[in-house]
Amino acid sequence: MPVVTNGRVVYVEHPVGSELYQPEKHSKYVEEQIDTDTVPLNGGVLIKVLAISSDPYMRHRMRDDDLPLFCPPLIKGELIDNFSVGKIIRSENPEFAPGDYVIGYFSFENYHVYPSGVTNAFKHCIKVPKIPGLPLSAFVGVLGLAGRTAYTGWQLYGQEKAKTSKTLFISGGAGAVGTCLIELVKTLHPDLKIIASAGTQQKIDLLKSLGVDVAFNYKEDDAVKVLAENGPIDIYWDNTSGYQTDAALQNINMHGVIIACGAIAGLNDEEKGVVRHFEKIFERSVHVYGFLFRTGEDSEKAFHAFDKEVIPLIVQGKIQNREHRFIGLQNAGKALQSVHTGENFGKAVIIVDPEGGEA
Ligand SMILES: NC(=O)c1ccc[n+]([C@@H]2O[C@H](COP(=O)([O-])OP(=O)(O)OC[C@H]3O[C@@H](n4cnc5c(N)ncnc54)[C@H](OP(=O)(O)O)[C@@H]3O)[C@@H](O)[C@H]2O)c1
Repeated sequence: MPVVTNGRVVYVEHPVGSELYQPEKHSKYVEEQIDTDTVPLNGGVLIKVLAISSDPYMRHRMRDDDLPLFCPPLIKGELIDNFSVGKIIRSENPEFAPGDYVIGYFSFENYHVYPSGVTNAFKHCIKVPKIPGLPLSAFVGVLGLAGRTAYTGWQLYGQEKAKTSKTLFISGGAGAVGTCLIELVKTLHPDLKIIASAGTQQKIDLLKSLGVDVAFNYKEDDAVKVLAENGPIDIYWDNTSGYQTDAALQNINMHGVIIACGAIAGLNDEEKGVVRHFEKIFERSVHVYGFLFRTGEDSEKAFHAFDKEVIPLIVQGKIQNREHRFIGLQNAGKALQSVHTGENFGKAVIIVDPEGGEA
């Protein structure tokens, strides 16, 4: 095979404090030439990267590694990496053959050498089948981190509580995790009243089209008032932390449950992440459950149960694949930034190769 151009996205420097990640300042797109026939694999595989996920947690990785966190830091001067889907081009590993589709934690580049024998919660390479009717990019969205996170948190902490609950509030409702969760809950608990928030009218309209009972714009509406009028809240799915979590705490029912999934509000503005009403947790006997994707035995079990329980719902269209596509690695930085500005309407994905976007 000929020498080809390998586009790559290098991490350059950390945003300082609460600074918003800026593609041109904190990363750069570069190109190199590689010969896909001769590039050394050392027992590994050569992957043509097809699609890559853009996730809010990547901002947590933009830091020095002296701060212990749940995810590995990005290293200045090295390639950015994240959950991806690709196709095997060459293999020195008997488990993989050319043409196999794989998901894993691959670098932001067109052609990625995945070494043999590296496996941990982040570094992995797993063969996947092509699912009819769905693009391969769905493996980094509804079939990947977003869908599995919604299912895991709900199965572990929401499902049982929902049997005796009337009202669920979801902040960040129109995002990748939020929309999967809404459709899952609509299927499993059609009588549960759902309140959900988002930051634009287009997203509010989406929430309404999904059958949410009360949708509000957290930037314009008074969340405390909306929840007071439509609560009390039995279950709060927290994608944001900050002011919306305070509003939920002020309106949580006795013995309410909070499922702490994410805290995007404070990622780019520390002040916006502040929660003040912790006293409601003891005053109202609230149970707060935090969880991380594929961390711990229960979470790992849910990860695998997803295949049997949720993939059929996705194939039937009961849970939809909604993507906001950024085409080409040149636009990877825009994708990484979009989840913090709210530009993404659906799961933010980078389509690295056209095959990644084909159904
Ligand atoms: N626990 C886990 O293992 C796990 C796994 C995956 C994701 N998560 C978390 O789940 C949450 C949702 O992730 P996702 O992948 O579905 O992302 P997403 O919702 O598709 O994208 C992020 C959205 O967050 C909203 N946002 C940005 N800044 C905000 C702020 N200051 N206050 C409130 N909302 C803000 C924006 O929507 P608006 O236009 O509505 O503002 C943006 O579109 C994130 O907190 C993420 O870190 C957790």
